[in-house]
Amino acid sequence: MPWKAIGIFDSGVGGLTVLKEIVKALPQEDTIYFGDTARVPYGTKSPETVTRYSLEIASFLVKRDIKLLVVACNTASACSLEALQETLSIPVVGVIEPGARRAVSVTRSGKVGVIGTEGTIRSSAYAKAIKRMNPEVEVVTRACPLFVPLAEEGWTDNEVARLTAETYLGGLRDHGVDTLVLGCTHYPILKKVIGETVGDAVKLVDSAEETARTVAEILRGKALLRPGAELGNHHYFVSDVPAGFIRVGNRFLGGRLGDVYQVSLEEKG
Ligand code: DGL
Repeated sequence: MPWKAIGIFDSGVGGLTVLKEIVKALPQEDTIYFGDTARVPYGTKSPETVTRYSLEIASFLVKRDIKLLVVACNTASACSLEALQETLSIPVVGVIEPGARRAVSVTRSGKVGVIGTEGTIRSSAYAKAIKRMNPEVEVVTRACPLFVPLAEEGWTDNEVARLTAETYLGGLRDHGVDTLVLGCTHYPILKKVIGETVGDAVKLVDSAEETARTVAEILRGKALLRPGAELGNHHYFVSDVPAGFIRVGNRFLGGRLGDVYQVSLEEKG
């Protein structure tokens, strides 16, 4: 029996930070990644629209016979996880629960900051998940939309990045949070400047790392982990011309992407 791949999707290139952690944790697994580059960003769109896009992409990936779906996009996880879980018969893992769980276990002061896109923050998905796990924890949130283009532009360690981070995060720091959830695919790219802005005393929680751990746990629990030491294959699909995805993606992955194919969801659907 051939081992099936893990399906991963995002609104664009950002989910590669999640893919990177999954490959690090499970190097033997095959992956199929879909980046919706024709319709990015999701962070500014309504939950209904994001859910419609997410279901279309899930259907594309399920037809490629994946064994588990990772919703690498925080906005799609916040808006569409339930709809995806109700629709699909394979396990669906979002990035919100793993990040929230880690934040709850890390905080000592009981004050957690969460940053993300407008859509993610508006949904309160992180705050709800954290409160579900521990109602005592106080959650302070802040949308940081400009971090996405900064990360894609590669402006991760310059004056503009530092000023933007100070403007967004100064309030959170002053609020006394000791843990900050990086609730957007792009924010791990800005970890250095975010860390310097909030200070050493604040622990940064990377949802991508936690999600990779959750994926490994689920596959192990269902005996779906691929055995052996061989490295997995990775396939990439995008909905717009691949050039920009490849350029930014190589930087996000810190390596070279394999072949990237452009597909139309309508044709392939
Ligand atoms: N991938 C999105 C997220 O993690 C960020 C980019 C977008 O707005 O589509 O929320």
